[in-house]
Amino acid sequence: MKIAVIGAGYVGLTTAVSLAWVGHDVHVVERDETRLARLQAGSPPFFEEHLAGTMVACAEQLHFGRSYESALAGAEVAFIAVGTPSGEDGAPDLSQVEGALGQVLDAVSERRRELVLVVKSTVPVGTGDLYDARVADAGLVGIVHLAANPEFLRQGRALHDSLYPDRIVIGGAPDALVTLRRVYRPVADQSFEAPSELPRPGGLSAVPLLEVDRRSAELAKYAANGYLAMRISYINEIANLCDRLGADVDAVASIIGADHRIGNHFLHAGVGFGGSCFPKDTRALAHIARENGYAFELIAAVIRVNGRQRARVLERLELSLGGVGGRRVALLGLAFKPGTDDMREAPSVPLAQALVERGAEVVGHDPRALEQARRILPGAVALASSPEEALLGADAAVLLTEWPQYLALTPNVFRAAMRRPLVIDGRNALSDAVRHDLEYYGIGRPVLTDLLERHDAVAAD
Ligand code: UGA
Repeated sequence: MKIAVIGAGYVGLTTAVSLAWVGHDVHVVERDETRLARLQAGSPPFFEEHLAGTMVACAEQLHFGRSYESALAGAEVAFIAVGTPSGEDGAPDLSQVEGALGQVLDAVSERRRELVLVVKSTVPVGTGDLYDARVADAGLVGIVHLAANPEFLRQGRALHDSLYPDRIVIGGAPDALVTLRRVYRPVADQSFEAPSELPRPGGLSAVPLLEVDRRSAELAKYAANGYLAMRISYINEIANLCDRLGADVDAVASIIGADHRIGNHFLHAGVGFGGSCFPKDTRALAHIARENGYAFELIAAVIRVNGRQRARVLERLELSLGGVGGRRVALLGLAFKPGTDDMREAPSVPLAQALVERGAEVVGHDPRALEQARRILPGAVALASSPEEALLGADAAVLLTEWPQYLALTPNVFRAAMRRPLVIDGRNALSDAVRHDLEYYGIGRPVLTDLLERHDAVAAD
């Protein structure tokens, strides 16, 4: 099928590459010149595992340009996959979606052949209904059919999640769904040949294709992200209690996660969630509820807890260092999570800002995000080209992104480089050796020396 994809961000480009890989002819429209130049030269404009190689492998079925007309000519389906950043009051800013919609409608105004226009961007519930009116105004009723198709991929695993999703959700009128079923048939049936660098997970032979009404599809995306964010805030609250009670959040999480009604995913305590999705989508969910006269208490608490969690590392640094002014602090990891160079709403950003404001000397390292960091972090933050360089002469190190190379660092590396081997593990991910040998603080993990003292005290009683 000929398919147009509007927008080559994480969602748009990954969708385009996965649809090309399973056999469709995909035409991507990108308006940003720099981004487009990189795409036309054959490489993604951002780092995402496996995307570059697969893009090259299916280059014949992938086309990039800025013209809506040529991408849409003869296309049966068009996906709108542009950004919906947070606007005022948490409301998603739909200006990019509306701009793309307008351009698509203009480009197909003379058209007689039907087009299924799929909103893949995360949009408030009822957006499809509102846009039906735009289709009617353009005189395209019966020609353009709007559908919703939320995306559940994770950055760092984007292509994997597109080719091997847990489910595919399509919402819309029956005519639109018939076409979308054809688009997704190879993924639903898992009938495509797996890329050699991304083998099919063992036992996966089919993916559920869930067909629902458009509003339910739109809400499902927010509901899924809100729920996952809630689990993170929940385990972070438990971690904070663990710190007060001398319990270990890793042990508690594995015990509750062993209950199959709960499951063990998204129970990893740390500095809180970041990225381009959870912070924005939780705010949007609260806003959507408010707009509809409903006080969504739980999501409001999830957002508050996440804000408070981010402050914990700074509190620990202040306490351990007796104030951070004049201290050298190394930040290991600047991206919001491993596997990406994305720093949107990354915990590193407010922490670096707060440290600089308090007079600390801050040095950061990230294996992928240094280019982003240069643009985003305050100029006073030095950027190191290796973890060892970042640690050199530091009074404290903070792990903010659990990149594998940081987890492989031995206690000796920290000791040899740092002025004081104080390590704050914002991801509860560093090795047991580091945990035992250095002045180590995790999130909801007992400080081992304290534990020993407590045991000694109990023994003495
Ligand atoms: C998230 C969802 O997982 C995807 O399903 C969804 O499609 C995507 O948002 C989106 O809306 O586009 P993503 O933001 O890429 O994906 O990353 P996650 O792996 O979900 O991590 C989000 C944040 O939560 C990260 O900051 C991560 O460090 C944090 N996290 C995650 C925790 O603190 N603890 C956990 O146990 C899991």
